Amino acid sequence: MKVFNTVKELRKELEPLRQTSKTIGLVPTMGALHEGHLSLARRAKQECDIVVVSDFVNPIQFNNQHDLDTYPRTIDEDTEKLRGVNCDFLFAPSVEEMYPTPVADKYSFGKLEEVMEGPRRPGHFSGVAVVVRRLFDIVEPQKAFFGEKDFQQLAIIKNLVQQINYNIEIVPCPLVRADDGLALSSRNKRLSAENRTKAPKIHATLSQATQKAGNMSVAQVKQWVIDVFNADPAFEPEYFEIVEDQTLQPIASWNDADGIVGCIAVWMDDVRLIDIIRFK
Ligand code: PAJ
Repeated sequence: MKVFNTVKELRKELEPLRQTSKTIGLVPTMGALHEGHLSLARRAKQECDIVVVSDFVNPIQFNNQHDLDTYPRTIDEDTEKLRGVNCDFLFAPSVEEMYPTPVADKYSFGKLEEVMEGPRRPGHFSGVAVVVRRLFDIVEPQKAFFGEKDFQQLAIIKNLVQQINYNIEIVPCPLVRADDGLALSSRNKRLSAENRTKAPKIHATLSQATQKAGNMSVAQVKQWVIDVFNADPAFEPEYFEIVEDQTLQPIASWNDADGIVGCIAVWMDDVRLIDIIRFK
């Protein structure tokens, strides 16, 4: 695996490959890699000849300075893990390399960003879109791989590709969990030992919610989930929404859509965790 810190060097390496019929797959990440990220890289390796993983903690998508400052940075371990999955190129630029001039670009996603993460993290999805578009421009992949854990981000990226009319296939990849059910996340490292033992309750509760859908209304299931977390001092729920899986708009009845997912954000002390569950 080759490691690149500059756009110029990575482009120089990719240029001749583009002239051949080799397909290029991109896996954007912010590092602190775990099995969730590695599952994307493995999938990319199955579907593409050359896999580029980017490892860049993107400052412009953080709307909370503490979250940015404490975001885990483990580039040496990341490098080893990516070697282990036969990644071809690791792109790990500095902030100055990625943003040599002040960032002026802004993206809007209409109704897709009016829900869930959007209003709570102003500017977040525009910041994600800026960096992902730059990565698309640098790498020019045929396919790019994103996790369903960040369900709203995935919808935003699909919308971005339509907006800018790029011929890039966005490949959604399933959420990977720890054995106890906790959705893998780089932020799990920041949980206290006690909170880490309690955190699997998030997935357990969402799983129970899908059982309740048979004899409770959408509003009742939403309230039940919020009540479960409000009753436990280890958790502070931020939102739980039950939405149509394409438009991400909240539904009122189980018959309102063919695909329905529940999306949650909860705090455990100063760590914000998100998770999703499919109802149908
Ligand atoms: P990051 O949180 O590092 O996630 C990188 C990719 O890994 C995303 O597509 C995310 O959905 C996926 N991922 C994270 N945890 C996962 C899990 N448990 N199972 C499956 N996939 C998982 O998302 C970002 O970085 C950034 O916003 C980025 C797109 C890189 C732009 O900066």
